[in-house]
Order: sequence, then C-alpha cells, then structure tokens
Amino acid sequence: MTDNMNDLKKMCLECKKCRLCETRTNLVFGVGNENADVLFIGEGPGENEDLQGEPFVGRGGKLLDKMLNAVDLDRKKNIYIANMVKCRPPKNRDPLPDEQDACIGWLRNQVKIIRPKIIVCLGRVAATKIIKKDMKITKEHGIFFEKNGVVMMATLHPAALLRDPRKKPDAFEDFQKLRDKIKEICPHTYD
Ligand code: URA
Ligand code: SF4
Repeated sequence: MTDNMNDLKKMCLECKKCRLCETRTNLVFGVGNENADVLFIGEGPGENEDLQGEPFVGRGGKLLDKMLNAVDLDRKKNIYIANMVKCRPPKNRDPLPDEQDACIGWLRNQVKIIRPKIIVCLGRVAATKIIKKDMKITKEHGIFFEKNGVVMMATLHPAALLRDPRKKPDAFEDFQKLRDKIKEICPHTYD
C-alpha cells in the first residue's frame, strides 16, 4: 500500500499479476480528482480505453459524460473514475474471477487514497463485487447501500444503455438521486 497516487500508478504500469498484462496496449489506471468524494467504478477497459489509456472514452464513455454533465459532474474536476480491472480483457469478455482478484488490490489502494464518501458502480460486474454478491442490478439500481461507512449505489452500465436505449430514463433517474445524495452528504463536490 502507498499513500501516493503517482507512485501507485507507476507500480500498476509494471503489473504482471494476471494474464491480461500479456494482451494490453495500455494499462488504464483511472482518471479524475484524487480528492473527490465520489468514485465511479466500471468493469474494465474496452478497445478504445486500451488504445488511449483512459477509462470510458468510447461511445459508452460519451454517454457517461453526458449523464455526468447533466448532474454537474465532470470526470476531470469533481469525481474519480476507475475500473475493476486495469487491463482490457480480450474481445471485451467479462473479467474472470481470478483476474478480478488479482487486480482488486490496486483499486483498494486507490480507494484508500481517495477516501470517497460515495461509490457508484457502473454495471453488474462492479456492483456484485463491490456492493453485494447477490446484487440484482435491474431491480436494485439507484438504491443506496452503506458498507464500511461508505454510501454505495449501482447504476446501469453505459454499454447496456447503448444496447437498449429504453433503459436511459432509468439511468438518468439514478443520476438525479445521486445528485441529491451528493448535496446531502458531500455538498462541496459542487463548490
Ligand atoms: N467499460 C467499462 O466498464 N470501463 C471502461 O473504462 C470502458 C468501458
Ligand atoms: Fe495487473 Fe490488473 Fe492488469 Fe491484471 S488486470 S495485469 S492484475 S493491472
């Protein structure tokens, strides 16, 4: 464990703890304000993220930015965004359990440095690992849970919204609830 985000990033860039290191172009460490009170956690890099080294920069990322901006959140200013695994799984398959287990220590260290008040899980993979094993995202998105003194919520993954745009209003509603929660427990996010 380190308390310095730059040191942590340097360590990650050399990581070979799982097979995903063999096929990555770039490691996707995370983006945002390391002093943010709100942390978003996705699943893992896709093709565009692997090529650019930043989370959520493809079509799903554009949609995510739109939803963030609708509630005055900005990936470069008042939040932080990371993923369950930092290297792209081939053909965008779900990260395997042993890959998630290998990588989660890095994310834990990021959480320790950021000390978020709210964690938002993007999609089922992050939600089941971070919030609770039997999380049912279709039923339980937008609901706030508390774990280890941190408020947590899951919302639909942007890629799922691209596959089925009829789900978009549900996701926008989750973001409105998130804005209310931020105003309640960490209002200086909006300073
Ligand atoms: N999907 C994710 O879960 N994370 C990314 O960074 C990009 C797409
Ligand atoms: Fe290391 Fe995580 Fe990349 Fe696996 S996915 S090589 S554990 S950084």
